[in-house]
Amino acid sequence: MANYSITNNELYHENYKQASNNPKQFWGELAKENFLWKKPWDSVLDFDFSIPKISWFDGAQLNITENCIDRHLKTNANKTAIIFEPNDSNSSSEQISYKDLHERVNKFANVLKSRGIKKGDRVCIYLPMIPELAVSVLACARIGAIHSVVFAGFSSIALATRINDCDCRLLITSDGSYRGKKTIDLKGIVDEALESCPSVKNVLVAKRIHSDINMKEGRDQWLQPLLDDASIQCTPVVMDAEDPLFILYTSGSTGQPKGMVHTTAGYMVYTAYTFKNVFQYKTDDIYWCTADIGWITGHSYIVYGPLLNGATTVMFEGVPSYPDYGRFWEIVEKHKVSQFYTAPTAIRALAKQDLSFVTSYDISSLKVIGTVGEPINEEAWQWYHKHIGQNRCPIVDTWWQTETGGILISPMPNCYEGKPTYATLPFVGVQPVLMDENGHEILESKAEGRLCIKYPWPSIARTIWGNHKRYEDTYFSAYKNYYFTGDGALREENGHYRITGRVDDVIIVSGHNLGTAPIEDAINEHDQVAESAIVGFAHPIKGNALYGYITLKNEYSNQTELQSEINQLITTHIGPIAKLDKMQFTNGLPKTRSGKIMRRILRKIANKDSSNLGDISTLLNPEVVEDIIKNSL
Ligand code: WTA
Repeated sequence: MANYSITNNELYHENYKQASNNPKQFWGELAKENFLWKKPWDSVLDFDFSIPKISWFDGAQLNITENCIDRHLKTNANKTAIIFEPNDSNSSSEQISYKDLHERVNKFANVLKSRGIKKGDRVCIYLPMIPELAVSVLACARIGAIHSVVFAGFSSIALATRINDCDCRLLITSDGSYRGKKTIDLKGIVDEALESCPSVKNVLVAKRIHSDINMKEGRDQWLQPLLDDASIQCTPVVMDAEDPLFILYTSGSTGQPKGMVHTTAGYMVYTAYTFKNVFQYKTDDIYWCTADIGWITGHSYIVYGPLLNGATTVMFEGVPSYPDYGRFWEIVEKHKVSQFYTAPTAIRALAKQDLSFVTSYDISSLKVIGTVGEPINEEAWQWYHKHIGQNRCPIVDTWWQTETGGILISPMPNCYEGKPTYATLPFVGVQPVLMDENGHEILESKAEGRLCIKYPWPSIARTIWGNHKRYEDTYFSAYKNYYFTGDGALREENGHYRITGRVDDVIIVSGHNLGTAPIEDAINEHDQVAESAIVGFAHPIKGNALYGYITLKNEYSNQTELQSEINQLITTHIGPIAKLDKMQFTNGLPKTRSGKIMRRILRKIANKDSSNLGDISTLLNPEVVEDIIKNSL
């Protein structure tokens, strides 16, 4: 028997064993008993990593929003589904019951339909963390439209690239957004982006900051009047298990972001199941994840996972530092939050502040606290454990990826404990392995290697939108018949994993995945720049920060001006999150004889570790290295 609720060590091991030994039976039972289906599947799982092709619950039909909303109405219509906590701490929060959510999603879905949106159409959502964001995601899912949420910190060019990659027909945005003390002109960014997006025919605009914005005749419409006129009934569209639910972009090793495609049934089953168990969610808990819905963490663990479990999920519009560094703890006290899930970068920033920001609030409602997005260092873990967990709450250090859809490795409270810097054991059904340099699976228990997964789990992304070849190349070609994560990891005798970080061209800055290629492309747009290379260096708050080595075409006297122009280019092409912390102008970049930039050397220099660069005599231009070291920042 597959247990939906895993509450002790024995149950974990039992279920883990069943899910590994007989995955089809295990997931079949779990899916059948815990979700609403319109038609059962013909086959639980079919896969072949060598193609690669993966399908779960093939032949089944369902609608995920019926599972997120409708099925809770019978027993829990008045329970709060979403607590909206606005940016301004003096404004009141909003409680949206499951019944309200049902009406709001249906109305929104009807508005989308009235704009001609139907099953399979792509809808881009570019919104701040306001209720319309969650509602529009669910409205798309209600009618089978594929949502593509773009984080509202991305620039107009980055937005346009994502819209065009999957030919979105409609875009949902707001007049602007609040972020701490600042307001951001989102609609202005949208207008710029849409100049190069011919596929977008309609723009729906939510009113948030009440600014005076430009509305383009025939294209833009205020959302609210349309919602006011829409019916509260909307029959959910029947979806096949493998119909795409959403596309979410993540960085890769080329300038073009990868549109990861998640499908309906497997994603539903896995996000619900992990949410329930990793957070040990109980009926009256109040759960809060501080991520933005623009990232996978928000999709899976603000919207889908919690709502599938009939939970109350908090959506926070603001930032941890506004009006002061006590904001998170004020919200925990106010809503009596039981589970709190955030990123190591936020913990490090908060740990630097006076402890009174924490102690002024009663945070005794907390039961489980979590982190995600990058390895958490020991010091931050200890601070989190002592001051937020009050030496009492288990910490779940959850390792996963946009591509994995849900948490793959994490401590599970009551079942097995975490320990600082360890993501610990695989979740039920997940089979991680470490690979050596020769591409073989390392069988010894204590080992270090590249982290792969050797069997599919239900929420693995099925493809990259429009580019299945890239999906194969990125995830299934490094090791035949294994999914390659791009991360390195250590494993202890007892099977516990510690993630050591990316082994590819992705750098994680403040928990955000940034590919080096798009940033270098942006820098190289400057007419003075000949070439550039980006590496990460250790940063006390951000985890990693970006160090750029830039070779200019000519001598240039005003370096300060040049630096700000380069950061401006990055902001324009990607967004402020990708700005460089350090920029060094070089006479050349170290290259192999085949002309490839040796980032390994640059990484060491940026991390002040240049005493041990290895053999550089085989480089095409070893002479540049000394110069780079001498002038390093
Ligand atoms: C990193 C975020 C260590 C990792 C859900 C992964 C982590 C990438 C952890 C995915 C963790 C995420 N410990 N590293 N607990 N969680 N990572 O796609 O390098 O934004 O490959 O998904 O973040 O980032 P993404």
